[in-house]
Amino acid sequence: MEFVDQLKSSIDIVKVAGEYVRLNRVGTTGQYRGLCPFHQEKTPSFNVNQPRQIYKCFGCGVGGDVLKFVMEIEGLTFYEALKQLAEHNGIPMPKRSEYSDAETRLRGTLHEMHALAAQVFQDGLRSPQGAEARAYLAKRGVPQEMIETFGIGFADPAGQALLRRFSDRGFAPDQMEQSGLVRRRQEGSGFYDTFRGRLMFPIHNETGKVIAFGGRAMQDDQQPKYVNSPETPIYRKSSVLYNLHRARDTVRKQNRAVLVEGYMDVIGAHAAGVREVVASCGTALTPHQVRTMHRLAGTVVVNYDPDAAGANAAEKAIQLLLDEGLHIRVLTLEGGLDPDEYVKERGADAYRARVESAGGYFHWLADRARARFPKTTEGRMDAFKFLLPSVQKIHDKLERAAVANDIASYLGVEPGVVLDQFKRMAAERRAPAPVEARPASVIPPMERILLGALLGNDEARAEVLPRLTPELTEGFFTREIFEALRHVNGLTGPAAFSALEARLNPPAQGLLHEVIAADDMSGEESSLVQARSCLRKLHAGLRKRQIDDLRSRVKIAEREGRMEEALGFIAELRQMEKQSREDAGE
Ligand code: UTP
Ligand code: MN
Repeated sequence: MEFVDQLKSSIDIVKVAGEYVRLNRVGTTGQYRGLCPFHQEKTPSFNVNQPRQIYKCFGCGVGGDVLKFVMEIEGLTFYEALKQLAEHNGIPMPKRSEYSDAETRLRGTLHEMHALAAQVFQDGLRSPQGAEARAYLAKRGVPQEMIETFGIGFADPAGQALLRRFSDRGFAPDQMEQSGLVRRRQEGSGFYDTFRGRLMFPIHNETGKVIAFGGRAMQDDQQPKYVNSPETPIYRKSSVLYNLHRARDTVRKQNRAVLVEGYMDVIGAHAAGVREVVASCGTALTPHQVRTMHRLAGTVVVNYDPDAAGANAAEKAIQLLLDEGLHIRVLTLEGGLDPDEYVKERGADAYRARVESAGGYFHWLADRARARFPKTTEGRMDAFKFLLPSVQKIHDKLERAAVANDIASYLGVEPGVVLDQFKRMAAERRAPAPVEARPASVIPPMERILLGALLGNDEARAEVLPRLTPELTEGFFTREIFEALRHVNGLTGPAAFSALEARLNPPAQGLLHEVIAADDMSGEESSLVQARSCLRKLHAGLRKRQIDDLRSRVKIAEREGRMEEALGFIAELRQMEKQSREDAGE
């Protein structure tokens, strides 16, 4: 067996996709459904089919096998996806890298350089040179266990240590430059380390590979406070959440992510036992990051710094989270403390309790609005109007009304006024065309049902397929699939499916995926019955066409005076009509 097939047969797409998307089982035929990780949606249209080992989204149309899924979601090449799946499942890759290309090799090298750099920085923290950094961490109360868990390191102040290791290992100047970890000198030749004399935090991708670093200044007056890696072929700032690879399982299990601002906040929260913590790291939260959280959880607890900058960032984050349809809680810690400081001053238990009791975002938003407007009747009304666009984003109608009433009474606005505003709002909501309508299937229902039945049931295939002559399917939209199906008849189970898929062109593969993903209501036992009934209808249809055809031939022959021929046709016609009545009565 080819390596790719071997790998695919030893992993389960439900398990792989389930690490990225919260999937729910639907029906009894091994179908799973969740929110599509490839486009924005509020109602799940992402389907995973276990018996067939494929996925398909009805919203945006993406679909394929487990390798395609990993390629798309991780932004990997085919070879990288293969390698990642093999590594995660303890399956050795074949030596020859026949699937590798230039881009893949560069990224592989950059991953190697980052892994090496993380090691060099960690060694730096343990070395005599790292004494000051160790003292700094001790002063900030970061225990040894967290230093190790998070791989914290220290960068050589002279800016040579990493460069030397890269040269020793024989990395080319071009590779060094692309890594972003060393820089070319302005004048003269040669390189120097990007990070010098800083406390180093490795940043990982979702699968746990180091892809970048953040370096913190050790002195208060040192600017900037953090230096971060530039974007590289393996690091896209806008799509990374710090600590996601460690937090991922807990986020999914708790159905909740705790979102903080910085590296130190993540470490503090994690140390306090809040393992579902991630950070956007200085930059404004992006839609990509929001979607990443949403595919793992339904709720986000926003726990930004309590200063003005943090509150403004939180307000922007809330709008994005609302757009994506997430449930939002806001945690503002008292005493002007950020999460890291809070854990240190009040303790782990106190912090965990605050996370658990984090309130709904509307009271938080209402407080912000109240502070912005005067305390007059008009001021309160203005505050209410200011919040309405956010209310409007709530997907659920009842929740929307409840929240509006809630903030109206919180702000001291007349309920009658709320009603007026709501009616206006409802009118505006009705105006635009409905979004997220599921595209209607292009496959005619009969073909869909018949294909679904044949694909879902080996017995139905064995009995019905031989009687399903090419004549019966020649006008089919999905004719190509039926033709391929005749070729692979005799095979059973997933093997039949892969062989079938391999025979199809991509457009037909798309149709096939659609049929399979839609097929979640027919139980196994009804498939045979459905297939037989389709076959009967097809035969009846064919016979009707043949009868019509004969009738017109009779007419023509009679008109042209070829009576003998006409009589022959009539005899044939009688025979056929008799057959047709018998079929109908059987
Ligand atoms: P903070 O200034 O809140 O830092 O920035 P912090 O994480 O709490 O760190 P300590 O406690 O002061 O040591 C929050 C995050 O913003 C990014 C970093 O990711 C930081 O963790 N940031 C901040 C930068 O990228 N550059 C900066 O100059 C400052
Ligand atoms: Mn801090």
